[in-house]
Amino acid sequence: MERRKFIVQTATPFLVFCAACSKSGVGTSPSNVDFTIDITSTIATPGSSVIRDGVIVVRVNAQNMVSSFIAVQVECTHAANPIVWNQSAQQFNCNLHGSVFSMTGAVINGPANRPLKSFNLSLTGNNLRVTG
Ligand code: FES
Repeated sequence: MERRKFIVQTATPFLVFCAACSKSGVGTSPSNVDFTIDITSTIATPGSSVIRDGVIVVRVNAQNMVSSFIAVQVECTHAANPIVWNQSAQQFNCNLHGSVFSMTGAVINGPANRPLKSFNLSLTGNNLRVTG
């Protein structure tokens, strides 16, 4: 096989793969978020979560304090795959390419290189308000 043809044939699939993986920054950061959820019915147990308006809200422990909840954008900042909460590790995982984010949304492991947007929380009775 001709050298030039060999290089084109072997490199093309790799370049297509790299182009797909280089979409860093396509995850949507929701804005003008403002909703309220009932913590006794929607996310009543530690490790449970709910997704609304592009935000994942997680209960990290059993206490009914605002610090028992976290809310970040649900789309990974690498290529917009929905992240999931890992209760045992207390971190968010993206199962598409393996990015890992802290509770605050900071990147622990790439390929994502931007943090998840986190949202403000306030708790009044059983009503958790998410804004940002
Ligand atoms: S979409 Fe690639 S690591 Fe999340």
